[in-house]
Amino acid sequence: MTQDELKKAAALAALEYVEDGTIVGVGTGSTVNHFIDGLASIKDRIAGAVSSSEASSQRLAAHGIALRDLNDITDLPVYVDGADEIDAGLSMIKGGGGALTREKIVAAVATRFICICDATKRVEPLGRFPLPVEVIPMARAYVERRLYALGGKPVLRTGFVTDNGNQILDVHGLRITAPHALESELNQIVGVVSNGLFAHRGADILLLATSTGVERLVRR
Ligand code: A5P
Repeated sequence: MTQDELKKAAALAALEYVEDGTIVGVGTGSTVNHFIDGLASIKDRIAGAVSSSEASSQRLAAHGIALRDLNDITDLPVYVDGADEIDAGLSMIKGGGGALTREKIVAAVATRFICICDATKRVEPLGRFPLPVEVIPMARAYVERRLYALGGKPVLRTGFVTDNGNQILDVHGLRITAPHALESELNQIVGVVSNGLFAHRGADILLLATSTGVERLVRR
């Protein structure tokens, strides 16, 4: 199977976690795009979707799936999203598509986070994939200095502006053995909007597509 076929297999496996009559939280990326396409086939059974990016909103709307405002919602049973890397504790690096802040917000509201990945995303420890950090533009150089002091090598994602009007620093060279602590430390840097470590709110269930089928791992 190709990597894209594995992404599709994981995405379609997530459909069984969608509860009838509820609003679904929807992430961002190529794996989630398969989930959105699958969601279209059961759109009459759901009450709509909350999206984590303009790109996902456009795809949901193109399928005729109603978009809901997160501020109007208190009950979001399930959030489905991909990851750039995921470890044994189901902590993740996310934000390869630059949507990390809105993804983190929707994930915070959801009761369960279902992560959908192909097998290449399962790593130990996190950190080979550069960690995205969303920054307020005027704070970029200051945040870069702080990231260097932590042992990382930040690289500005050129030609890219987030849906929130901010910039992304991709931090190379981190070996992340304590993701909860690093997530908290990065959040303390003034000018950081959010970082791509999802440890405090990690995945509850990982659907990992391998060549022999979709494995289900549950957060302990
Ligand atoms: C988007 O900002 C990311 O968090 C994605 O969830 C992540 O990059 C995975 O993307 P793919 O499904 O395209 O690999």
